[in-house]
Amino acid sequence: MRIKNARFLRSESAITKNYAGFNVPEIAVVGRSNVGKSSFINMITNNGKLAKTSSTPGRTRLVNYFMINESFVLVDLPGYGYAKASKSEQAVWEGMITDYFAESKNLVGIILLVDIRHTSENDRQMFEYLYTYNIPVLIVATKLDKIKKSEKYQKVLNISSFLKVGKENVYTISNQTREGKEQVLAKLEQLLENGVNV
Ligand code: GTP
Ligand code: MG
Repeated sequence: MRIKNARFLRSESAITKNYAGFNVPEIAVVGRSNVGKSSFINMITNNGKLAKTSSTPGRTRLVNYFMINESFVLVDLPGYGYAKASKSEQAVWEGMITDYFAESKNLVGIILLVDIRHTSENDRQMFEYLYTYNIPVLIVATKLDKIKKSEKYQKVLNISSFLKVGKENVYTISNQTREGKEQVLAKLEQLLENGVNV
């Protein structure tokens, strides 16, 4: 798939929380705080300024909607598991994530991002939670540029055994070097096709 254009549509907050969506298929990007969700959206859309990123975790505090190729919507969600945020802040973000899943009407696929260097208990819980929604989940390990090429195979195995999925189901990407982009875009296209056919 080629992404030809991408534009910001709307943000929802924990107060406005209108997560119904836009009558086109929707794909949500989920993952721990700082894993690279917003960077991932910018990388695949070739627009470094589309979604706001930050080296400090907890940057995305809204549910942000982006229209892609005027045909489907990508959703940038707040991250979970940011240990330095207060309990009440964490609860607000987690509430936004669960409300979003319960209320989105057009969700056809989820991209779960994990850090290639370390998965956490939070990631496993999120994966199990997503499973209950019966929506295809694409697992993508980010920050591929942070490890040696020789470590990649073992890291992918670690993630696959931790999440109890086949290693062929774990995709890898660098939002910095763009390595892995084509494979993930091909898979994203598949998610969309399966989604609209169901
Ligand atoms: P929250 O909005 O806080 O949940 O974070 P996020 O998941 O949206 O992360 P974001 O895209 O803001 O990226 C967090 C930091 O990681 C930034 O400093 C990015 O530049 C960096 N980053 C993201 N992806 C990669 C990657 O693939 N490689 C490297 N080296 N850095 C990355
Ligand atoms: Mg973000």
